[in-house]
Amino acid sequence: MFPRLPPRLPPRIGVTTVFPELSRPVIVAPMAGGPSTVGLVVEAARAGGLGFLAAGYKTPEATAREVAEVRAAGVPFGLNIFVPDTAPADAAEVARYRARLEKDHGPLPDPPLHDDDHFAEKLRIASGVPYVSFTFGLPPAEAVAGLRASGSTVLLTVTSADEARRALTTGPDALIAQAGTAGGHSGTFDPAGYDGAGTALGLLRTMPDAVPIVAAGGTGSAAGVRELLDAGATAVQAGTAFLLADEAGTRAAHRVALTEARETVVTRAFTGRPARALRNHFTDVYGPYAPLAYPAVHHLTASIRAAAAARNDAESINLWAGTAYADARPGPAGGILRTLAGCK
Ligand SMILES: Cc1cc2nc3c(=O)[nH]c(=O)nc-3n(C[C@H](O)[C@H](O)[C@H](O)COP(=O)(O)O)c2cc1C
Repeated sequence: MFPRLPPRLPPRIGVTTVFPELSRPVIVAPMAGGPSTVGLVVEAARAGGLGFLAAGYKTPEATAREVAEVRAAGVPFGLNIFVPDTAPADAAEVARYRARLEKDHGPLPDPPLHDDDHFAEKLRIASGVPYVSFTFGLPPAEAVAGLRASGSTVLLTVTSADEARRALTTGPDALIAQAGTAGGHSGTFDPAGYDGAGTALGLLRTMPDAVPIVAAGGTGSAAGVRELLDAGATAVQAGTAFLLADEAGTRAAHRVALTEARETVVTRAFTGRPARALRNHFTDVYGPYAPLAYPAVHHLTASIRAAAAARNDAESINLWAGTAYADARPGPAGGILRTLAGCK
């Protein structure tokens, strides 16, 4: 009997074919909710990598301001946009979850069941931004074509081979293959079926050959980056590894929790969409009740999370983290990026 070999590796597509400005094939992931800052993105570029601004949850005005600030710094950069969910949340399920939260937290505001995170305005702002990535599903093919015509390189986040096939029908320049090990929300097109299993290397091996792949999820070391590049990734995107960076906007309580011995869990307790986070009181107590109802649950828990952050209480905030969180180190982002890229 011969051992079963892993599928053939895709031919290596060098980083300069998609990212001509990069001298180091490491991308600082977009991290909505605070961690991504203009400073983080600029420092990533100055270190030879690439950073993404996170448009998620922001107003169009704030997004445009950040884009203008990075442009003024004269470095390559990306902008990440959430694709709005078209399936409306179940109002009764949201009401039940609200009642459970209110038992402990008092009256909560009525959350909107749907919002599109200003998708159309953000697409307009993205026009001509050097790199534009999407998560939470597929943008319309016309949007991909429009951005490419404006000079942007378009990247789509996928979490399985099937999603990759569907993504390619919209004509992107590259795919971001995000594994279950990744910190923060999964970009899965099927949140109901998502279990958070699978590594970046395993997912990379299922990706189509002809398209450049950015591998993401659970990478915290130079060895991890090297392994993915050797297996055919064009570049590696890491988020959690930069959460302790000086330039990151990570909250103080989140920073402390990242240095503690915890485990990560996939939870929809905070937002109604599966995301990997450090386990805390909130994930333990409310995780079992949380419905699939993004962004309704995001809005529902916002005041609880804001109050917890104000009192530095790590037990009731979303401590997004990938499985390699113990490798995260404080320091300047450029140093973290160079370390991941294998520079001594
Ligand atoms: C705090 C945090 C926020 C994130 N926010 C976003 C986001 O706004 N858009 C996005 O496409 N991905 C987001 N992600 C996922 C990253 O793009 C990336 O897939 C992930 O960080 C890779 O896994 P790692 O954290 O183990 O490196 C976020 C991740 C973290 C840790």
